[in-house]
Amino acid sequence: MTISDNVPHTGRSVTPRSSRSSKNSKGRRAERSATQAGSRSREQKATGQSKLFDTVSAWFGASSGFAAVGDDVAVDLGTANTLVYVQGQGIVLAEPSVVATDQRTGAIVAVGRRAKEMLGRTPDGITAVRPLKDGVVADFETTERMLRYFLQQVHTRKLLVKPRLIICVPSGITAVEQRAVKDAGYSAGARRVYVVEEPMAAAIGAGMPVHGASGSMVVDIGGGTTEVAVISLGGIVTSMSARVGGDRLDEAIVAHVKKEYSLLLGDRTAEQVKIQLGSAFPTPGQQQAEVRGRDLVSGLPRTVVLTATEIRRALDEPVKAIIDTVRTILDRTPPELAGDIMQTGITLTGGGALLAGLDERIKHETGMPVYIADNPAECVALGTGRCVEDFEALRPVLLAESRY
Ligand SMILES: Nc1ncnc2c1ncn2[C@@H]1O[C@H](COP(=O)(O)OP(=O)(O)OP(=O)(O)O)[C@@H](O)[C@H]1O
Ligand SMILES: [Mg+2]
Repeated sequence: MTISDNVPHTGRSVTPRSSRSSKNSKGRRAERSATQAGSRSREQKATGQSKLFDTVSAWFGASSGFAAVGDDVAVDLGTANTLVYVQGQGIVLAEPSVVATDQRTGAIVAVGRRAKEMLGRTPDGITAVRPLKDGVVADFETTERMLRYFLQQVHTRKLLVKPRLIICVPSGITAVEQRAVKDAGYSAGARRVYVVEEPMAAAIGAGMPVHGASGSMVVDIGGGTTEVAVISLGGIVTSMSARVGGDRLDEAIVAHVKKEYSLLLGDRTAEQVKIQLGSAFPTPGQQQAEVRGRDLVSGLPRTVVLTATEIRRALDEPVKAIIDTVRTILDRTPPELAGDIMQTGITLTGGGALLAGLDERIKHETGMPVYIADNPAECVALGTGRCVEDFEALRPVLLAESRY
C-alpha cells in the first residue's frame, strides 16, 4: 500500500493524530509569550466573556435556579489529541487538537478530526492550527475556543449547573502556563477548574498502585512531551517532562526522506510511516512501504520505497532522547524506590508507547522490566476521569490553587 496524505487513518478508537500547523514554532513561541505577557486587552476579554456567557447559558439551559450538581468533566488536553471524560459515562470524545479558522472573519470552520484532515491542504484564507505545542498552550484564544467546542459537543441537557472541570497538564508546567490552561477552562464555562499532572493521571489511568508505599515508574509518551515520573504514597517523588514525543519522531522521518531522497513528505504521511514502519528495536512487523511525496527538484509527486531498518535509524535520535529522560529519572530515584521499580517495572502510556519495539528497547537499555499499559492513549483521560469520579479521595493529587 502506498502511504500518502490521502491514506485513510487506522480504525483505532483514539485515532493517532499528529501534524504541524501552518505556523512555525517561533511564531507559536512568540504567541505564547504574548499570552504570558497578558497581552489580551481587557476589552477583548470582556466581549469574549459575554459571548461565552451566552454560549454557556445556551448549553446549560436557563436553569441557574436549580441547586443540582451537574456531571463533572475531565479533559486530557493533549498536544495531539483531546479526550473528554464525563462523570458516570467515561470517555465520550477523542478528537485531534486541531482548529481550522477563516482568517478574514475569525470564524471557526472546523475542529478536531475534520480540521485535521484540512492540515496542509487549506485554501487561501483558511488556516488549520494545533493550538498546543510541546504539551502547553501556545495559542490561548484558539485553545479556549477548541475546549469550548469540545465541551459543547459532550454536554448533556442533564447538566443543570456549570461542571467542575479537571484538566490534565504536563508536569513541571510553569505557573503562567498552568494559569493559561485554567483560564481556558473557566472561559469554556467551568464553575471550578482543577489541574492534575499528566504522569499522575497516566499512572492512575493505567491502574498503577499510586497510593502504595512501593515506588512505581510511569513513562507517558505523547505527541509533544515525554513525561517520566516515579510515584509513591500518592505523590510524585521525582519527575521530568522532556519536549520530545511523537511529533519529533514524525519530524525525524520528514528530515530523513528529504535528505536521502530529496522528497518532501506531508506531516500526516510521516505519521503514517511511523505507525506502519517505525520501530525502536528490530521487530517482525512490516518491512517496507511505498511512500508518496513531492520531489524537491521537479516539484512533482514521486514515490519511494522506505524500509523499516532505515526508518528505525532515522528515529534513533528522538528515541534516544526519550530513553535518556528515563535514565535521568532512574538516576535521581532514591535507592529504596529504585529497588521497587526493579520489581514492579516501568509502565508505558500515551500514544507514543505504541511505537513498535519501544518497550523492548527501554528494557534493553535500562535493564528494568517494561510494560505497555492497556489502551495507552486513553490512560491520561481515564486517570483524570478517576479524579472526577472519586473527587474527594483523589483531591490530594490535584494541583490546588485558587482561581485568581
Ligand atoms: N501505533 C503507533 N505507533 C507510534 N506512534 C503512535 C501510534 N499511535 C499513535 N502514535 C503517536 O502518539 C502520539 C499521540 O499520543 P497522545 O494522544 O498520547 O498525545 P497527546 O496526549 O495529545 O500529547 P501530549 O501528552 O504530549 O500533550 C502521536 O504522535 C501519534 O503519532
Ligand atoms: Mg498526553
